[in-house]
Amino acid sequence: MSDSTLPPFPSSPLPLEAIRLQLRSWPEVERYLEACRGVIVPLGSTEQHGPTGAIGTDALTAEAVALEVGQRCGVLVTPAQNFGMAEHHLGFAGTVSLQPATLMALLHDVVLSLARHGFERIYVINGHGGNIATCRAAFSQAYATAAARQLPGAERLRCRLANWFTAAPVMQLARELYGEREGHHATPSEIALTLHLEPSLIAGQRPLPEPAPAGPIHGPDDFRRRHPDGRMGSDPYLAQPEHGSRFLACAAEALSADLQEFLRS
Ligand code: NI
Repeated sequence: MSDSTLPPFPSSPLPLEAIRLQLRSWPEVERYLEACRGVIVPLGSTEQHGPTGAIGTDALTAEAVALEVGQRCGVLVTPAQNFGMAEHHLGFAGTVSLQPATLMALLHDVVLSLARHGFERIYVINGHGGNIATCRAAFSQAYATAAARQLPGAERLRCRLANWFTAAPVMQLARELYGEREGHHATPSEIALTLHLEPSLIAGQRPLPEPAPAGPIHGPDDFRRRHPDGRMGSDPYLAQPEHGSRFLACAAEALSADLQEFLRS
C-alpha cells in the first residue's frame, strides 16, 4: 500500500504488513477506502481450553484466520479483540471475561468508529461461540446508532459475523478427522490450529481421561461442576499441527468466498 491503493481481491496473497491496520498510516487508509469499503475485525476470547489447551486458543485462531483471509482478499484487518464473553469459564484460572453488556458496547464503538471513516462492510471473524449472541446484538445497536447520528453511509452499513469454526468445510473436516470426539469445547480442531500456529504448545499435549459430555451452559460454578477439567465432550489429544494447517487453509478459503460475496453485496 505504499503508493497505490490496496486492490481488493488480489491475484496472489498480499504480504501481512500490507493488510494489518496497525501498520498503516491514516493517508494510506484514506486511499484504501477509495478502492475498498471492507474491513475485517478478529474477535477472540481469553478462556480456559481444557487441561492442556492454551488460554488464548480462541484469540489465536480468530486472528490467524482473519489475517489469512485479509491477505487473500486484500482487505484490511484491525487489531484483534482478544477478550470476549466468557463468563461461564470464569471458574477456571486464567480466564478473562467481558460481561455481555461490556462486549456489546465495545463492538458497537468499534463498528461506529469504522463507519465514521466510510467503512461499510464490517466483517467480524470470530473464534468463540460465547460471543455470537452479543455480537449480533452489537450489530443491531450499531445500525440504530448510525441511523440516529445520521452518519453518511448509515443506510449502506452492513456487519457480518463469520464464525470460522462453524464454516461448513471446517465442520466437515473436523468430522472426518475426529468424529464424535470433536466435542464442543477445547475441540481438537481449534487445538490443532493452535499447535500449527504456536509449536511450543505441542509439548503440552497428553492423553486425557474421558471428557464430560456437552450439556447446558449456565454460570461458572455450574460449568465447572459439569465439566470438571473444562472440556465438553472433546479429545484434544487427537489434534496434530498438520491438521491445524489444513483447518487454517480450509477456514480461510470458505471465509474468503463469503467475504467477497459480502463486499459485492
Ligand atoms: Ni474455543
